[in-house]
Amino acid sequence: MTARQTVMLLVAVVLSIPDLAHSFQPLLASRNSITHRHITQRAILRKTAEVCRDLAVSKGQDFSLVIDDSLSPSKVQRACYSIGTSTSLLSSFKFQSSITLMYLGNAKVDIQFIFSDIHHFVDEAFEGGRDLITAGVSYVKASVKKENFVAARWTLGQILHPLQDFYSHSNWVEMGNTAPYSTLIRPDQPFENLAGPNTPTCRSCVGGNCDDNLLPELQQKGLLTTGYFSFFSSAKPAGKCSHGGFFDWTSRRDPVGGINKDDLSSDHASFHHNATDVALEASMELLEDIRVAVGENNFLQLMGLSQSSVLAFVIDTTGSMSDDITEAKRVSFDIIDRKRGTLQEPSAYILVAFNDPGFGPLIRTTNADVFKDSINKLSASGGGDIPELSLSGLQLALTGAPPSSEIFVFTDAPAKDAYLKSTITALIESTRSVVNFLLTDATSSRRRRRGIQGLSPRSLTQSDAQLYHDLAQASGGQAIEVTKSDLSVATTVIADSLASAVVTIFQVVMNPGKPDTFTFTVDGSLRNMTAYITGASSLTFDLTSSTGVSQNSSQSGGPLASFTTVGNLRSLRLNTDNQTGSWKISVNSNDSYSIKVIGQSSVDFIYNLMEAHEGAHGDFSLKEGRPLSGGNVSLLVSVTESDTVKVTEVTLFDSSGPTQVNGSLQELGDGNFLIHFNGVPAGEFVVRLRGEDNSSTPRSTPTSFQRQASTQIKTSSISVTTQANDTNIEPGSTISIPFTVATTVNGVVNDSATETFTMRANNDRRYPNASPSTVTVAAGSGGKANGTVTLTVPASAESGTDVTLTIEVENAAATDINYAVLRFSVAAKVTDVNRPGCQVVSTSANCPFSSSLCASSQWEFIANLTDGINGTGIERITIRKGNGTLNTSTAVGAGGESVTMVSYTASCCSQTVELAAVDNVGNVGTCVGQARTLTTTAPVTTVNPASTGGHTVNPTSTGGHTLSISRCLCISVVVSLLWK
Ligand SMILES: *[C@@H]1O[C@H](CO)[C@@H](O)[C@H](O)[C@H]1NC(C)=O
Ligand SMILES: *[C@@H]1O[C@H](CO)[C@@H](O)[C@H](O)[C@H]1NC(C)=O
Ligand SMILES: *[C@@H]1O[C@H](CO)[C@@H](O)[C@H](O)[C@H]1NC(C)=O
Repeated sequence: MTARQTVMLLVAVVLSIPDLAHSFQPLLASRNSITHRHITQRAILRKTAEVCRDLAVSKGQDFSLVIDDSLSPSKVQRACYSIGTSTSLLSSFKFQSSITLMYLGNAKVDIQFIFSDIHHFVDEAFEGGRDLITAGVSYVKASVKKENFVAARWTLGQILHPLQDFYSHSNWVEMGNTAPYSTLIRPDQPFENLAGPNTPTCRSCVGGNCDDNLLPELQQKGLLTTGYFSFFSSAKPAGKCSHGGFFDWTSRRDPVGGINKDDLSSDHASFHHNATDVALEASMELLEDIRVAVGENNFLQLMGLSQSSVLAFVIDTTGSMSDDITEAKRVSFDIIDRKRGTLQEPSAYILVAFNDPGFGPLIRTTNADVFKDSINKLSASGGGDIPELSLSGLQLALTGAPPSSEIFVFTDAPAKDAYLKSTITALIESTRSVVNFLLTDATSSRRRRRGIQGLSPRSLTQSDAQLYHDLAQASGGQAIEVTKSDLSVATTVIADSLASAVVTIFQVVMNPGKPDTFTFTVDGSLRNMTAYITGASSLTFDLTSSTGVSQNSSQSGGPLASFTTVGNLRSLRLNTDNQTGSWKISVNSNDSYSIKVIGQSSVDFIYNLMEAHEGAHGDFSLKEGRPLSGGNVSLLVSVTESDTVKVTEVTLFDSSGPTQVNGSLQELGDGNFLIHFNGVPAGEFVVRLRGEDNSSTPRSTPTSFQRQASTQIKTSSISVTTQANDTNIEPGSTISIPFTVATTVNGVVNDSATETFTMRANNDRRYPNASPSTVTVAAGSGGKANGTVTLTVPASAESGTDVTLTIEVENAAATDINYAVLRFSVAAKVTDVNRPGCQVVSTSANCPFSSSLCASSQWEFIANLTDGINGTGIERITIRKGNGTLNTSTAVGAGGESVTMVSYTASCCSQTVELAAVDNVGNVGTCVGQARTLTTTAPVTTVNPASTGGHTVNPTSTGGHTLSISRCLCISVVVSLLWK
């Protein structure tokens, strides 16, 4: 065996051992232990609430939410959004989804980097652990700058893992520390007081009792150490502490026993809560650093605190599309103009144009005017020769939009790049985004095309259109076929999808079609329900409400619904007043059709496919790709409004059978559940959830509700696993991604199988990637085959870029596909680790002693800030505390460095100021000033090195870059004149 195979075998062995843990438990708590999931979620909720509170206070508004560990995403969401008074429905779906992504990123470290000392702060790997954290922080800041929030969330989750582990694995809390060890997030600060490599740190536990195993002299000197850990060997440096626990071989050697505080059965279990408390504070300290570096709005977006959706258009711009482009403009301008400044204003705008041979670039902006400008610039031209690069355009939108976005594709031509179908399907499944197609004059012969001369008529054959229908179906979207003249009626679906808190109640696709009756539950929390039915023009239907009222498709206005028909789409606006309960819809059609029922409600759910790690107390981590046919499937489900909602049933439903698999529920607390499905057959499933809601009817019985996820979950018999050793790449480098392919039967590798698979690897940036075109599982290979995909990031790639790589494996018969979707962040290595420095120049001394007179006087604080001669330069200076006004100007210091001179003026009623200076790579330095009162003689100007990012500059020192006060004052005066 090669070394790699040996390691992989050991991984397999280790992963199959029960109760494996050498960190806080990732997701599942044993007894009342606190997990990485708890710590991460609590830190995010508390920090987000603090930011909202500070924003409210700065606007003079109330913020009454108590910030403690009882916060839930929906509580924080409501408190943050009550800042702007609004009565519209709120949903914490996006917030909860991004929190989940962060803690799943965190939990994955235990699987992905199980043998790494630096990822877990064991073996006294202080420098390596800190490098990992601070490099990760740079990636997060760079990604946020480019608004690549998904990549940033994953990296953030991953670096919170070692940061939190430090408190469990070191003797930090045993030394009595209750505050975080800030050096771990400050690359510019030296480690002090580390126990050296030759310093003994532990003595053996006595009779299994490890309460007293840290050496007293270590504690007296305040020396920092961590446990040593190994799955394979008992070797450790003489006299060193071990991590401890069943799997740690080093803990069996003298000094016996360990010091970890991972859970309530660990050797240092009595310090478990001390460690989790400080780990929470440390997580918040890291979030605070990112908050100051990226600014409040970006920070809230990173946390996922967004109420509205993105508006995402993918538009064909060939000659025959001018009517469609005009309509895309009209509908988007209308949405922008109606929603601007409201909570439903789209959180971002995405536009991708395509034709042949071109597509892209992706335009993504939060500025409505930039979007308007971009869409205004689109014009239909050229082409006429069909088909077009529609799927390439869609690929950019899928990877560029946030997960669970709704994307609209406008085209009248078949896809030239139909070979991307499986890539697009993989991206749909992994992003959960919904793709809708607006196909104009596509299959009809009613085409009356105006305009450009010499255009050959374009049309979609049934199989061309089927590609779009299949993709729509996989995503839970719709393929709407209309004439160009009717497009403006069909585009109401766009505005519908952008309403607040849209949920899917029921959805089904019947292909082939047959007459059938479907039921769905209307609950009291639902508003503005709409049912869409797509199908042939001959389709008829009957609708019956819970109270027995009915209406059929010959009545376009009636007691239950008013509806419009355009092309193949019928839109029914349901009138559900006082008619909660079970509704029925009977469809009569032998052609294929689809039904989708949506509404607005705060009650929704998110789910993630999980992978079990075998064993009695095994844990779970995020699973990539499709679950295995015939195998067991686990979902992590979280409901929004967990304070009032109870989940009763989660099922996987395949309409083609129909087949339904019922899940068993394991409650994790805080509205989270693990759902286990046994022996899920081959098929295409959707997740359906039922529960009870106590919120809308406080006095009577709870109402039942149902929700359905849009995206289909397909199973596959092919297992594809990747072992990327990093998700961060530097420009100009190549990353290798080893992968393993296997054939499975009922979820288990078929070790006697032989097969040759087709491989495809594809990325959304058109970076060079290489993969074998086939991979063969040979006889005697245990049913598995390995290979490597490489991805090369050009040296010119900008920091903060992300790239999504899709690796697909198809069986020889081309009937089955599985895939891995990997998202990488690109950032150049940060060499500027120093925080901008602050030198106080003067603090005016004219505040009156009596506070009752404060309003009539002002004070001024003047300081010079610089990022030094080798720094990346100050990008931004903000006021962190104080409500005065800030003027800045720049000059060149004595050493040639750029110096930003600030002058801060405030009323004497506000006597402290804290300024934050952020350099171009996101290092944060602070500068603190305090007004002097006229009667005081002691120096009260302070630069506080202990505050976040405090830079120790003696205010009276005359360093190399001192500017004369008079020159500085003079420049500030000029600047204030210019600024007003
Ligand atoms: C651990 O936490 C407990 C409870 O808060 C506290 O009484 C104790 O002093 C802490 N131990 C240390 C070493 O800080
Ligand atoms: C329902 O739709 C109407 C009209 O489109 C709108 O005014 C109302 O705000 C919507 N309800 C909610 C809860 O958003
Ligand atoms: C629904 O019930 C409420 C209270 O029972 C009543 O005020 C309202 O008029 C009813 N609405 C309809 C449409 O029947």
